[in-house]
Amino acid sequence: MVLVNKPPMGWNSWNTFGANIDEKMIFETADTMVREGLLECGYEYLVIDDCWQSKTRDENGRLVPDPEKFPHGMKYVADYVHSKGLKFGMYSCVGALTCAEFPGSYNHEFTDAQSFAEWGVDFLKYDFCFRDERIPAEILYRRMGLALANCGRDILLSTSSFGKESTEKWIRTTGASMWRFCGDIFDTWGSIRRITERAIDRAYDNYKGSFLDMDMLVVGMNGKGNVAKDEPALGFEEYKFHFSLWALMGSPLMIGCDIRNMSEDTKRILTNKEVIAISQDTACCQPVICKHPPHEQFVACRMLENGDVALGVFNLSDQASDQWGSWLIPEEFGWTRESGTKLLMCDLWDGTEKYLQNDIIMESGIPPHSCRLFRISLVK
Ligand code: GLA
Repeated sequence: MVLVNKPPMGWNSWNTFGANIDEKMIFETADTMVREGLLECGYEYLVIDDCWQSKTRDENGRLVPDPEKFPHGMKYVADYVHSKGLKFGMYSCVGALTCAEFPGSYNHEFTDAQSFAEWGVDFLKYDFCFRDERIPAEILYRRMGLALANCGRDILLSTSSFGKESTEKWIRTTGASMWRFCGDIFDTWGSIRRITERAIDRAYDNYKGSFLDMDMLVVGMNGKGNVAKDEPALGFEEYKFHFSLWALMGSPLMIGCDIRNMSEDTKRILTNKEVIAISQDTACCQPVICKHPPHEQFVACRMLENGDVALGVFNLSDQASDQWGSWLIPEEFGWTRESGTKLLMCDLWDGTEKYLQNDIIMESGIPPHSCRLFRISLVK
């Protein structure tokens, strides 16, 4: 079984490509992950989502890759991905069919785990469509968890049960390293807002080794691909909000855009090493949500391994927030004005630094749907 001590990072094909996947695009994506420094930043898993399969199993009951999309089979793809220093992920489902109606792993869990092991898979996203209603979700997930733990290869289990059937109560019995608690993300502000509101209520469900998955990133999609809607796509400030919150909450960071054509803005967000360091902090302390909706502005903070605190101020409103004072820096993370320490606040997006003690510093308003993210150190 795979044990992870920080939220997994990588790239997944679904958000951009949906069913339009093939070997060539996957190889180019693997090349790009290395060339653009994404692997170096920590994005190590390259995951092929749904629609890689043929519509029927072979005569031995084995899953078969679509011969047009993957003419050399999946071991060949895995070997290429591994040759780049990346790890390789695939997708299946608890049901008889996957969400896109290809064969799922129901009643084939142990055979499929064997195939994945033989192909060199390191990560399995396991979805929740077309399931047998007579069997509780937790048993369906435990089946694949047990199959993977006995397949002879370390394969990380990433579950996607949308939080159904009180997933948070049993998910850690399945061996899952990450688990989706929400429906699908889209490249719209409404989608980010919905996931945000649910996630900040569920911050306490995030555990080291079993990370609360807020879904793949839409940063850099710019209205293209498979999760675009008939609404405006997110803009730069909104992508920054999205990435900052996912990092601060300790969600896995799985890129969903077409990285072969990344803009400088997209790259700037996805490769911000200071923000990634918050995400990957191995203390994995749970975030504290200090101002809760219905407030349109909320503060989330999280204690880090070296004693620093990550703190984000997030503006959900459609209006710029008013100027805000440093009194908003909450004492809920444990700091007191009598501690004899000053706070050194480093802004992780613009790089500015300032000290805070008993005086009040006024900060300018935060644009609509945007945020500020700080790393705060206590100094004598
Ligand atoms: C579900 C999942 C998505 C994606 C698709 C594939 O909708 O939530 O992330 O995996 O299935 O069909």
